[in-house]
Amino acid sequence: MKITILPVILFGFLFNQLNAQTYNPLWIPDTLSGSTINLSLEEGTKNWIGSFATTSAGVNPSSSTNAFWGPTLIFTKGDSIHLNVTNNLMDTTTVHWHGMHLPAIMDGGPHQPIAPGETWSPYWKVDNHAATYWYHPHLHMMSQEQLLLGLGGMIIVRDSAESTLALPRTYGVDDIPLALSDRAFIGNQISIEPYGDSMMVNGVLRAEWIAPSQLVRFRILNSATERSYNIGFSDTTTFYVIASDGGLLNAPVPLTRYLLSSGERIEILVDFTGRQGQSLFMKAYNSVLPQNIPGGDMFPNGPFANYLQRSDFNVMHISVGPQTTNPITTIPSNLVTVTPYDSLTSVLTRYLTITDTNIVGYNGVSFIINHHLYSESFIDYQVPLDNTEIWEIANSGNFSHPFHIHDVEFNILSRNGVFPTAAEQGWKDVVLVKAHETVRFITKFTDFADAAHPFMFHCHIALHEDEGMMGQFVVVNSSSEVKDIINNDGVRVYPNPAFDRIFLSTKGESTIRGIFIYNSLGELVLSEKDQVQENQIDVSSLRSGIYLINIQNGSGQFMKSSFIKN
Ligand code: C2O
Ligand code: CU
Ligand code: CU
Repeated sequence: MKITILPVILFGFLFNQLNAQTYNPLWIPDTLSGSTINLSLEEGTKNWIGSFATTSAGVNPSSSTNAFWGPTLIFTKGDSIHLNVTNNLMDTTTVHWHGMHLPAIMDGGPHQPIAPGETWSPYWKVDNHAATYWYHPHLHMMSQEQLLLGLGGMIIVRDSAESTLALPRTYGVDDIPLALSDRAFIGNQISIEPYGDSMMVNGVLRAEWIAPSQLVRFRILNSATERSYNIGFSDTTTFYVIASDGGLLNAPVPLTRYLLSSGERIEILVDFTGRQGQSLFMKAYNSVLPQNIPGGDMFPNGPFANYLQRSDFNVMHISVGPQTTNPITTIPSNLVTVTPYDSLTSVLTRYLTITDTNIVGYNGVSFIINHHLYSESFIDYQVPLDNTEIWEIANSGNFSHPFHIHDVEFNILSRNGVFPTAAEQGWKDVVLVKAHETVRFITKFTDFADAAHPFMFHCHIALHEDEGMMGQFVVVNSSSEVKDIINNDGVRVYPNPAFDRIFLSTKGESTIRGIFIYNSLGELVLSEKDQVQENQIDVSSLRSGIYLINIQNGSGQFMKSSFIKN
C-alpha cells in the first residue's frame, strides 16, 4: 500500500507545485480618464526571472520595482483632453498617440522629443471612432529599445454608437485589454533585438486569466517589435471580430484564426457561457507562417534564430470561472454602419514602393520606402487639406511589412487587386503589405493643415523603422506654404522655384554622377545618368509642382532634395 500511495502523493504534490508555478495572473493596467491626464515615464525594474531585478521602464508605475507598460487611457469622442507627459527617463523620448486623428504638433512622433526632466503637454479634441488605440515611444532610432524596455499603454475610445450596443464593456471584468509582445532575455536583462522567445501578455510571462462564463470582449494589441501572432484558441473556439484598428465593423465576423501584425488591433468576442470549470489557451498558431511573414522567418543559425519562430505557442491560459451578475450572453448580429470612402471621390493616387535595398550608400539597411532612407528634413508628400487619396503600396521585396500611417484611418480597397476579407473592411491604420503584394487604400486628410509639422508613415517593425523605413507628409492649406519647408540632405538646388534649368551643388563632393527627378506621385519623370554636364539639368519639360530630386554623387552615394517648378 505505502509503496503505491507514496508516488501518487508525491506526484500530486509535485504536480500542484508545477501547476502553481506554471501561470501568472494576467495584469490588468489601471485606467485613467478625464480632461487632464498626467503621465510619468520612469525607469525601474521588474522581476520576470525569479527574484532578479530586470531593468525596465513604464508609465506611472505603482513602484520602481514594477516598471512596465502603463495605464489604459479612456477617451470619449468629442471630449477635449490635455495630457502632461513627463519624461523621468535618463534618455530623450517621445509619446505617440497611435491611431489618433489630431494636429501634427500633438502627434508625438520623432518631431516632438521630450528631453529628460521635461514635460510635454499636448491637447486635442478626440475625434476617433470607438475602438482600441495605443501610445508608445517614437524617437527616431530608439523605438525598438524603448518599446522593449516596456514603454507604452493602451487607449480605449468610447462613442455614442458603441455605447448603445449590448457589448461587454466593464473594463477588467468582461472587457479585457491584451497587449501581446515577446522578449528575449540575456542573463536577467532584456535583450534589444526584434524577436523574443518569451511570450508576454500585458508584460506577464505565462499569463493566466479567469474568465467569467459569459460573453467576453478581448481588445488585442500587437505591441511586439516585429512578431505577428496568428491568433486562435486551443479548442477551436470560434471568436467574433467586432473591431479593427480604428472602429467597429458592420457586423461580427466569425473566425478561428486572425493574423495580427505589429501595431494592429482587433477586438473580439468569445462566448464562455456554460463553460465554467473548463480551461483553454489563447494561442499563436504561427507554425503555418511562411518565411516572408514576421515570425515565420527561420534562420537556423542566424541572428534571428528563435524558439518561437514558425511554431505554435501559448499566448495565455484561460480558466472559466463563475458568471457575473448581469452578464452579456448574446453576440449582436449588427454593430455600426461603416461608410468607407468612395474611390470615385479620390483626387489622386500616390504610388509608394517598398524595396529590399542593395543600393550603394545604404549599407546595412534592409528595407526602404520610396527608394530613400528616412531623413527628418525630407518631406515625401504635400497633401492638400481635405484631399481624398488612394495610396498604392507596392512591395517588390521578399518580406512582409506592416505599413502604418499617422493622422488618418483608411479603408483597404484591395490586396493584389482582390477586395479585402470581412474583418479588414472597416477602419485601419496598419496594414500588412505582404511580400510581392500591392495594397491599395483610400483615406481623407481632414482638419489639420500644418505645413511645418509632418506626419509619419512607416513600417511598424520597430527595427525597420529605426533603420529608416519611414517617410513623412505634411497636410497643407495651399501650395504657397510649401516653400517654407523645402529642405535637403546637403544638396542645394537653385534657383528654387525653378523655371527652365536647375543647378545643383553638394556639400563636399563636387561631381554628380546621376540626377533622378520624381513627381509628387513618386513617378520618375526625368533623369540623367553618367553625363551630367556642369551639375545642371533642363527641367523646362516639367509641369509646375513639387518634385523630389535624388542625386548620386561621384562616390556613388545618393542624396536628396526637392524643388518647386514654377
Ligand atoms: Cu505606432 Cu508611427 O506608430
Ligand atoms: Cu502611429
Ligand atoms: Cu518592415
